[in-house]
Amino acid sequence: MKSSLLPLDYYHNDTIFDSFFPDRIRKISRIHWTPLGIAKKAASFLAPAPGSKILDIGSGVGKFCIAAAHFFPESEFHGVEQRKDLFDLAIKAQQRSEVSNVLFIHGNFTQLNLDTYDGIYFYNAFAENLINVARIDDSVDYSTGLYTYYANYLGNALVNKSRGTRLVTYHGYEHEIPKGYEMVEQDEAKPLKMWLRK
Ligand SMILES: C[S@@+](CC[C@H](N)C(=O)[O-])C[C@H]1O[C@@H](n2cnc3c(N)ncnc32)[C@H](O)[C@@H]1O
Repeated sequence: MKSSLLPLDYYHNDTIFDSFFPDRIRKISRIHWTPLGIAKKAASFLAPAPGSKILDIGSGVGKFCIAAAHFFPESEFHGVEQRKDLFDLAIKAQQRSEVSNVLFIHGNFTQLNLDTYDGIYFYNAFAENLINVARIDDSVDYSTGLYTYYANYLGNALVNKSRGTRLVTYHGYEHEIPKGYEMVEQDEAKPLKMWLRK
């Protein structure tokens, strides 16, 4: 029988999960990476049945995808990330986390066909173009024009998705969600919202 080398609380304690990342990644975790409890709750909405295929737009170091994949092993979680160093760290994190139902893609989300996904997780990835504090780094261009381009691109892709598509936003801007999506659940204490395409 395979025995795991992961600490017992690995998937339940953010400090333990984050402790495997380099210092600079750990220090910005509270602001930039999804807490494990939020990931579990979001994934339970996004993957209501085995075989669900979910995309995390802007997957960072992979925290949402890996936690979601652990708690919902019969669904598939893909993450697309524009920063190569974060993508590399996500691959390493996936290897130590022993989850196989995850795929990380290096690139811009605009390069993917969003139609192939049943659900989308979105942790306010484009806000870095608007908010000039606590940015991850200076390796990408930031501009309000880029924010508008990404927000419109995602809005159009969401409009074109089929009835029943599930979307979860964490710390999101409500104006980014197009008409046709109904908020069906909300965690009052946390900025977590569940949406359904009508
Ligand atoms: C707030 S972090 C969330 C990370 C991850 N989803 C999580 O919850 O742990 C947002 C991430 O989106 C990425 N990002 C922003 N715009 C992107 C784009 N157009 N395409 C791909 N990734 C993007 C950023 O590099 C950053 O790593």
